Amino acid sequence: MKILSIESSCDETAAAVVKDGREVLSNVVSTQIEKHKIFGGVVPEIASRLHTENISWVVEKALTDAGVTLDDIDAIAVTYAPGLIGALLVGVNYAKGLSLASGKPLVPVHHLRSHIAANYITHKDLKPPFMCLTVSGGNTLLCKVNNYTDFEVVGRTRDDAAGEAMDKAARTLGLPYPGGVNLDKISKNGDNKKYKFPKPRVDGSPLDFSFSGLKTSVINLVHNAEQKGEEINPADVGASFINAVVDSLCENTEKAMAMYSEKTLVLAGGVSANSVLRSRMEALAKEKGWTLYLPDLSLCGDNAAMVGAQGFFEYKKGQIATMALNGKATADISLAYEE
Ligand code: KG4
Repeated sequence: MKILSIESSCDETAAAVVKDGREVLSNVVSTQIEKHKIFGGVVPEIASRLHTENISWVVEKALTDAGVTLDDIDAIAVTYAPGLIGALLVGVNYAKGLSLASGKPLVPVHHLRSHIAANYITHKDLKPPFMCLTVSGGNTLLCKVNNYTDFEVVGRTRDDAAGEAMDKAARTLGLPYPGGVNLDKISKNGDNKKYKFPKPRVDGSPLDFSFSGLKTSVINLVHNAEQKGEEINPADVGASFINAVVDSLCENTEKAMAMYSEKTLVLAGGVSANSVLRSRMEALAKEKGWTLYLPDLSLCGDNAAMVGAQGFFEYKKGQIATMALNGKATADISLAYEE
């Protein structure tokens, strides 16, 4: 079964053709990074406009690269939530138009479900059940993936996402957008013990995360040093900060794995590209005897191949939308799409 998939939840306009949920026939991503860089972050209005400008050629290229036409496609999958509402609407409306014109079924896909599904492309043998840590720019979630369309959230951030904290730390250190990637790069040779950051804990909810205190403390550290005219080494601050974020991610994951007697761990989302997170989780998995699955680096960020992968399983479950499909800025991963 071939699915044409579309993603436009943030600052990447993407389309792909995916066969049977695992085989990528094409994967086109038009990134807006350069356009948002001068503002230090994504400007929602600009994102929506750029999606509108780019979506047609991106979808056409995805079909051409896969060597197919719309006639060869069995269903059209699209990210409907969560994300920037104006950005989501571009992809959703384009997909609705294609579906109406072609008569092909329309499959709504939750963005975080698709981040997890990036792993089905990377690891052909991976099947639920497993525990998944999803860390992206807008979300940090620990969930039990009971089957391809059954997600049980066991821990989530109470405030900022890990990616948001990475991005703000990077911005405070004067690094260009996208912050997390650049913070990772400059921190490689930094001293990760040089600065102490608070250990975030959520009272009574041992699996929940909180990153806003960490974010404030790195901002304060840099501003205080500036006011006192003290020199700080960005690599040391970055390495210490990443270490604190990764400590929190590893600690809660370890607790969740023990609490639910899980032995298989999957990482997903943009921050799963972080080199420290990947190597620390690899070491932890080895120590604990877990099987660890990491998404290929090329599939950690937003893309449509992962939407096609999850779309396949949603379609098989009978998750088909009508022309009433709408974008949603927020949506719980555990709830199925409803009209
Ligand atoms: O999953 P994603 O592409 O978008 C959302 O769905 O939110 O995640 C983007 C986030 C950004 O916050 C970005 O800075 C972060 O992932 N990120 C990283 C790295 N690569 C991307 N954070 C830390 N280290 C990285 N190497």
